[in-house]
Amino acid sequence: MHLFSKLAFIAPASAMLRFSCSTLVTDRIDPGGNALNTTMDPDNELPDIATCTSCQFTEDFSNYWTAVMFFKARNGTYKRVPTFANEYLEPANGGITMYYIAPYDGKPKGFRMILGDPGRRTDIQDHDARGLSFRCWGENFTNSIGAPGTNQDTRDFPKQPFKGGIRANHFFPTCWDGVNLDSPDHKSHVAYPESGSFESGGPCPASHPVKIPQILYEVAWDTRQFNDPNEWPEDGSQPFVFSMGDGTGYGTHGDYVFGWKGDALQRAMDQNCQVNCPTLKMQSTQSANKCTVKRKVEDDIDGWLTELPGDISGKGE
Ligand SMILES: *[C@@H]1O[C@H](CO)[C@@H](O)[C@H](O)[C@H]1NC(C)=O
Ligand SMILES: *[C@@H]1O[C@H](CO)[C@@H](O)[C@H](O)[C@H]1NC(C)=O
Ligand SMILES: *[C@@H]1O[C@H](CO)[C@@H](O)[C@H](O)[C@H]1NC(C)=O
Repeated sequence: MHLFSKLAFIAPASAMLRFSCSTLVTDRIDPGGNALNTTMDPDNELPDIATCTSCQFTEDFSNYWTAVMFFKARNGTYKRVPTFANEYLEPANGGITMYYIAPYDGKPKGFRMILGDPGRRTDIQDHDARGLSFRCWGENFTNSIGAPGTNQDTRDFPKQPFKGGIRANHFFPTCWDGVNLDSPDHKSHVAYPESGSFESGGPCPASHPVKIPQILYEVAWDTRQFNDPNEWPEDGSQPFVFSMGDGTGYGTHGDYVFGWKGDALQRAMDQNCQVNCPTLKMQSTQSANKCTVKRKVEDDIDGWLTELPGDISGKGE
């Protein structure tokens, strides 16, 4: 129930699938089928090469990637910020909360896209910015009312400590050119509605006429252990930094590779599935947690580090 009241703004009458995907690996964070590779071959169908998935729905072998967040203490060392289970979801091994919100007209096998720009450090009001924001949570998810991107959500990292962690919101574009599964910048084959928004039923531009589901990643960053004001910068700035060296938050980004088996996603959208979805096969969070891949780069990423361990954002390139 809470779920609906909370998301009523987004999708009053639409099918909306919400589920968790545990962390698959943290050298390129991120949940999804274990067919994740340093170089992703677009000819590979993920469901054909993955043997497990860290998502609750086991026909979902998609890959969902975001940057990794670090805390920079006053003495200049870094500690990785863990992720934690989102509201109303079973404690998973960190990871991500996925939403797919209908309508769904396309069947984008092999489809992929990128939202955001890892190199961005300023507030540029373009389409990327439109989909990306941060929410400060109070203790026990208070302040979770209001769709992501609304309320006091900011485009850059929040400037003060708060009790319940940070939610990073990533709303992907919802209009597709209907032809290209990818594009050189991984963006130009998709677009946002021409006017209005997905939520308001805004029309897709003629160049990108095919509606695809609203894909939303929520990453729940557990910053609660980093709230000591004595460890925050003395100049009033904030201490969090993404793995690609971004201390502003404007470089937040997400990468998506479609990997649903057969027509599973279409069935779920057609049947107006929500958190429970009889048409989809489901696994417990415990088994989802067991699906992991070995890290490609064996550097220490969990102690106090003197420098950021390279770009471990998992751009897949
Ligand atoms: C990952 O890529 C390497 C090199 O292209 C390849 O040998 C390996 O089979 C791939 N693994 C998977 C799971 O696709
Ligand atoms: C830096 O600060 C952190 C947080 O207080 C502490 O745990 C760590 O030991 C310190 N590292 C060094 C090298 O002083
Ligand atoms: C949060 O949950 C804990 C454990 O149930 C409880 O002790 C605490 O009072 C709650 N805080 C708020 C603000 O609801």
